Amino acid sequence: MTTITLDGYADVREAFRLRDLKQALYDEGGVVMADCLLVLHGEDHRSRRRVENRLFRRGTFRHWEREFLHDVVRDTLAPFAADGRADLVELGYRTIMSLTALVAGIDRPTGSAAEADALYRYAKKFSEGATLVHTTRDPEVVRAEVRAALDEFDAAFLQPSLARRRELLARHAAGELSEQDLPRDVLTGLLRHWDELDIDQEILLRECAFYLQAGSHSTADAFTHSADEFFAWVRRDPAAAEKALDDPVRLQRCVHETLRLHPASPVAQRRALAPAVLRNGTEIPQGAFVVLDIAAANRDPRVFERPDAFDPLREVPAGVPRWGHAFGGGMHACIGTELAGGVPEADDGVAVTDGAEQAHEQVLGTVTLMLSALLAAGARPDPERPPRRDPDSSRDHFASYPVVFG
Ligand code: HEM
Repeated sequence: MTTITLDGYADVREAFRLRDLKQALYDEGGVVMADCLLVLHGEDHRSRRRVENRLFRRGTFRHWEREFLHDVVRDTLAPFAADGRADLVELGYRTIMSLTALVAGIDRPTGSAAEADALYRYAKKFSEGATLVHTTRDPEVVRAEVRAALDEFDAAFLQPSLARRRELLARHAAGELSEQDLPRDVLTGLLRHWDELDIDQEILLRECAFYLQAGSHSTADAFTHSADEFFAWVRRDPAAAEKALDDPVRLQRCVHETLRLHPASPVAQRRALAPAVLRNGTEIPQGAFVVLDIAAANRDPRVFERPDAFDPLREVPAGVPRWGHAFGGGMHACIGTELAGGVPEADDGVAVTDGAEQAHEQVLGTVTLMLSALLAAGARPDPERPPRRDPDSSRDHFASYPVVFG
């Protein structure tokens, strides 16, 4: 079988947009990924995405950021800060868990820490299932663990959430509830379009599990890496770094620069359904396996000067997002880009030091909100417990990142 690896920024961008390249990264992770949005193709993908896109309008996130995201971040951080220490991996997951559950449509009836911990355990397991292709453990063992977690999650969380939504939809159909009274989440969207989307209970279960892990794992990973890069920046250039402490726009740039250097998905993979030729003349035969090396493309020196340097203040060419391809592109471009990464400041010549004022109108994204709250609480790396990389994955993940406060 022919494998073609693309590692230039422009080639990866072009390949993301080729309609005849079909998702192929999750073939191994079918236990949780089969029939999920991210693996659908063509019309099946278009109709599912149209339904789910409705939840992800920009106004929604601006509203969320103004109304409750700050509180979620602050409340999750508070007990850790009071305790004087935290593990950023755990803190990241805890914070994002309630948000992704909200997006997916998974109710948390008690709101207890035990409930959040259960969701956190499931999300980590589902994520391990989705990225089975990268595992260094026995894939069959992982698959069995993921299946067991899916069954538990279904009974404890999905079925009660489903029952509540069915009842709300019945009352809506009877004219007792208005459109505004219905939850705006993936589960409700799928229930309302059940026949048109041709889904069943198992697909519903996997789609909710997929959202839970897709939203949380990548956000928690971006948060830990952002803090790590920020701490290193403070050591290298304290004057420049510390200006970001009260400038949310500069802090958002730290997050975007981190995403460029440490994309949560370092590669995307596709299979060619038909032959294609890239602008640079590269021929992709039908059936070829195409690797889009996001991590390498994000360090393409033709696009990013001094590509390996963490430089949140760097200039980027017009039309190039500061995060490079970290959120993918084309039909599968991340649906949660604005929720996680926010909207970059307008390229209208506004100096980054005007950030505090500009951030007023701007969607900063959950990762920046999380980093900002963490730094405001005085977090720094724990001098006695160094961070540890994930031994069960070949990806660039931290398994543990202890910090102390004050
Ligand atoms: C920093 C955080 C995040 C990063 C780096 C990230 C990255 C990505 C990437 C690279 C893809 C495309 C994969 C491919 O083309 O093979 C993707 C797709 C997706 N992401 Fe994210 N993501 C993040 C946060 C989120 C959040 C918060 C959500 C939802 C709550 C989310 C939901 C999705 C979904 C549903 C897709 C599939 C879209 C489709 O197939 O049409 N992501 N993400």
